[in-house]
Amino acid sequence: MTRYDDIVEALHDPGTFSSTPVVPELPSPWRERFDGRVPSRGTLIGLDNPDHDRLRASVNTFFVPRRLARYEPWIRDEAHRMIDGFVGDGEADLKTAFALPLPLKVIAHVVGLDAERSEWIGAALGFFLGPRDLYHSGTPEEKAERLLELHDYILQVMAERKRDRRDDLISHVWNEREAGLEMTDFEMLSMFPGLMLAGHETSSNLICTALLNLLPDQGRWEQAQRDDASRAEALEELFRFESAITGMKRLVTQDTVLGGVRLTAGEQVFLAYASGSRDAARFAHPDSLDLERTWAVPHLGFGQGVHACLGAPLARLLLRVELDVLHERLHDLRLAVSPPEVEHTVVSEGRGIVALPLRWTPEPVVRQEPSPTWQPAEREEPVTTQPIVETRAVVVTGRRALTEDVVELVLAADDGDALPAWEAGAHIDLELPDGALRQYSLCGRPSDRELRIAVLLEKAGRGGSRQVHDAVRIGDRLRIRGPRNHFRLRPASFALFVAGGIGITPLLPMIDELQRRGTDWRLLFLGRDRRRMPYLDELLDQYGHQVYAWPSAERGRYDLDDIWRRMPAGETAVYACGPEQLLAALEESARRNGTENRLVVERFAAQRVDHQPNRPVEVVLARRRRTVTIDADESILDGLNRVGANILSTCREGTCGTCEVRVLEGVPEHRDSVLSLEERLANASMMTCVSRCRGNRLVLDV
Ligand code: FES
Repeated sequence: MTRYDDIVEALHDPGTFSSTPVVPELPSPWRERFDGRVPSRGTLIGLDNPDHDRLRASVNTFFVPRRLARYEPWIRDEAHRMIDGFVGDGEADLKTAFALPLPLKVIAHVVGLDAERSEWIGAALGFFLGPRDLYHSGTPEEKAERLLELHDYILQVMAERKRDRRDDLISHVWNEREAGLEMTDFEMLSMFPGLMLAGHETSSNLICTALLNLLPDQGRWEQAQRDDASRAEALEELFRFESAITGMKRLVTQDTVLGGVRLTAGEQVFLAYASGSRDAARFAHPDSLDLERTWAVPHLGFGQGVHACLGAPLARLLLRVELDVLHERLHDLRLAVSPPEVEHTVVSEGRGIVALPLRWTPEPVVRQEPSPTWQPAEREEPVTTQPIVETRAVVVTGRRALTEDVVELVLAADDGDALPAWEAGAHIDLELPDGALRQYSLCGRPSDRELRIAVLLEKAGRGGSRQVHDAVRIGDRLRIRGPRNHFRLRPASFALFVAGGIGITPLLPMIDELQRRGTDWRLLFLGRDRRRMPYLDELLDQYGHQVYAWPSAERGRYDLDDIWRRMPAGETAVYACGPEQLLAALEESARRNGTENRLVVERFAAQRVDHQPNRPVEVVLARRRRTVTIDADESILDGLNRVGANILSTCREGTCGTCEVRVLEGVPEHRDSVLSLEERLANASMMTCVSRCRGNRLVLDV
């Protein structure tokens, strides 16, 4: 398939176009030789659902551009160190001196392996390349032995990280597994060699083809280097113009017609990304390298859909840093041969260059100071927005029934030490006896030595609350993570707290805090039946008229619009926690009354999976001072790019994080699988390719 639209249609229909031919099974005798030690079909790119989505979910949230940014100083320093080794020579084959070793070091480091062993890792992975492995010596037998050793080494690192997490991909997958993702150790092992292999070969090829396309025209080389923005623009055009991935095979699973061609179940097709990215129906003057091209039509350099290149954000980051450092260190950089003399590798699903001889003006090595933001690992301040996961042991020192279906637990530090400080509104993750994690708000006082939580028995839940009710007793030892807080008090002269049933829990310390500060507040406590509203009697005893109890069994349905009618003027805030139905209705009511900015909600379940039908949305591009109306059948991403926002995208299915933008106002309806629950609740950013708006208007930092 060579036409852009046909390829995109196939990529977004993985049910009809199966990925099984992408990674063939290991042939005999290797399959038998590796049995039980090396997976016979590693990597994600050759898997269909349900396994694909399940396994990809373990790594997806790691490869998000914003989170990978923390590796940039490390990559930059490694690039400088490598160039130190040859800058004085004035010439080199850039492929072997730089383009092969640097990406491998980076990928090994990101995965969590020892980057100093990257050469050995590359040689072991060379087994999979067969005759394409031009860079490592050894018979297939020797390479097979190295491959087995590599898998043993990865297993060893997996075991280490299981006990002692670090800031790397292996630790990330353990975190995801602990949070409930189903995956065997062997499946986990199978991910890393495939990811390293795919990332290494393509990254090496990308930098070589980028240089080959830029250097012959020095004006173009300089244009691509003007600043970070120009470099990012140039990269996208380079990925379009000559990607390292030429395309992928698919197996047709059912008779179908695509682009007017009848395809029969069992046939294989090749989706020619390289051709689609130069389809004249979609790209003006497609065979020219235009560094100022806008990205309204996304190229196919990384594919699209559920199988879009997982490492695309890392590839973008790496290539941007590589070009920047090469430009900075190698002056008067040029090809040492004419472009037609540069030999390309045999074209398969990838395309690359055998050797790239370059010349430059030799310079003495000036030892580069490590980038100021880079610190050795043990002192590293992670810049990722992902919460730092630190677990600690606690012991259950108290347990009482608050209502017939709510139990309160008191947790103290297992070693008798003080527990971490926290603020009103915070919650913890409680690790249950079976290893699952559940989030519970802290409902005691921050000054207490213990933590207090209340757990509602959810009969239709996933079993977490059932474990707490049935299995957790005084004296039991549990583990917790946190506390963390995304439900903080804002400065306000008056606060209304709206609780729905068990949603009272985070509000208790917030009420306590405002009472201590002398800030005026009221509580509207909604529930079905007052006997099932935890802490109600204590609240009425302590605060009397400031608490309005509204059991619907006695008083009927509460008119939420009434909240806004009764709110005093001035600096006020409404904090709400409770069932999704209540929160959604409250948000809707706030929208109707134009009071969204005063409402702060806390949710403990992912927002509805059954999304509302799309509605048109008005989006303000804050930096461009422009407003665009996006229809129900257009994605926010496409709507933004229609007016020249140039937002990057890769998967266009909410799985890669490339199209993320910051949200300044409004409440997104998150439909991606990239953001953590905390990030969704914080509403600080959204994936524009799939997510919509819970109201009618969003203000984005675009
Ligand atoms: Fe991948 Fe939007 S393009 S998440």
